[in-house]
Amino acid sequence: MRAGAVQFRCHGCGATIDPALALPFCCPNAFAPGDDIDHVLAPSEEDRSFPAGAESNPFVRYRRLLSPYRLARKAELSDAAWIDLVESLDAALARVDGRGFRITPMAEQAELAKAMGIKGALWVKDETGNVSGSHKARHLMGVMLYLRVLEMAKLPAGDGLRARRLAIASCGNAALAAAVIARAGEWPLDVFIPPDAEPAVKQRLLDLGARISVCERRAGEAGDPCVLRCREAVARGAIPFGVQGTENALAVEGARTLAFEMAEAFRAAAVAPDLVYVQVGGGALASALAQGFAIAARLGVLAKLPRLMAVQTAGCAPLERAWRNLDGRSLEEAARHRSRFMWPWERRPVSLASGILDDETYDWWAVVEGMRHSGGRPLVVDEQAIERAWEAARQHTEIHASATGTAGLAGAASMPDEQGTIAVIFSGVER
Ligand SMILES: Cc1ncc(COP(=O)(O)O)c(C=O)c1O
Repeated sequence: MRAGAVQFRCHGCGATIDPALALPFCCPNAFAPGDDIDHVLAPSEEDRSFPAGAESNPFVRYRRLLSPYRLARKAELSDAAWIDLVESLDAALARVDGRGFRITPMAEQAELAKAMGIKGALWVKDETGNVSGSHKARHLMGVMLYLRVLEMAKLPAGDGLRARRLAIASCGNAALAAAVIARAGEWPLDVFIPPDAEPAVKQRLLDLGARISVCERRAGEAGDPCVLRCREAVARGAIPFGVQGTENALAVEGARTLAFEMAEAFRAAAVAPDLVYVQVGGGALASALAQGFAIAARLGVLAKLPRLMAVQTAGCAPLERAWRNLDGRSLEEAARHRSRFMWPWERRPVSLASGILDDETYDWWAVVEGMRHSGGRPLVVDEQAIERAWEAARQHTEIHASATGTAGLAGAASMPDEQGTIAVIFSGVER
């Protein structure tokens, strides 16, 4: 095996990790006392061409762009072994969730654009039929594939891995996606949820075999108790199976497939997207899109980068606050002084778009980088706009998306005079 051929690098401190030898989830220097560096790992890239295959499963079609695949090949697993791995997980997903991963539909929605007063050509990528009903499963499939490659290739980073449970703090789409993927991968999962989690979500998690821990706030404790309990579990040896790049770099990478699909669909339609409006909570979705579009542009699938517009609600907009504080400062400075730019939102937010109320935009740095490189910026929309987008999507499309899922559209509608081609992602189903 040629060890070290795939590398992960931290954008904050420059630390590098060989994923054959150590888990490239969280930067090894994160949580150093007194350190204000924004530590997030990302895989190195080496491909010179965009995959030309026509496979319908994105984890097969774009395999050459995925670090677990590259790791598998460097470890002398065959291309066929990877395809077998993805297809056997896909068959398990179909048994667990009634569907596996397939390229999801994207289409122009002229009637919706008209109803929203949007002048440009509006394209909607529909993730509501994706595994577990949202894009979140893409994040976690990336992680599961890496874990399985470690096992199959018997790589040192995989030693003792099966004895360790997966862990996630969430009570929404991410938890459901984690439970579906963990079940398909036959890996035990702990989900850390708040006392007021939706009973239906709790029941589904239990049905999928997840172990639930209800996290009450402890006296004098600051921060989200679910995140704190999950981090404690990880410190005791659990495998982080969440959807934030700060906790698991592989999660961001898995959702790049969404951008690859969009880029290819735009190329096939002979249009180039000018703007992409994306709803932002923890920021992993926008980070994955920024990275995926950058790769697609570098490899010639997109003629230029679409402007990345990060949409937050007025009730909770830590990314937009960071953007304002960053005015004129370099990305290097941002990475070295995280707390000057990103800190938890002080007020307890409420919104119909409940999935984008993360009190911190954990993956803010990569989203800021994506916005700067593409000429985009953050946008804040009010509740009325969130509600209007949600209702319009229901009335003028066949897609049953949640208010979180349509929040990007609210951003697009806040700039109605933009011409050109506009993309939004209906990222999650209405449950
Ligand atoms: C359907 C849906 N869309 C978008 C988001 C936002 O993603 P991120 O937290 O990665 O910014 C979420 C987060 O929960 C979600 O559930």
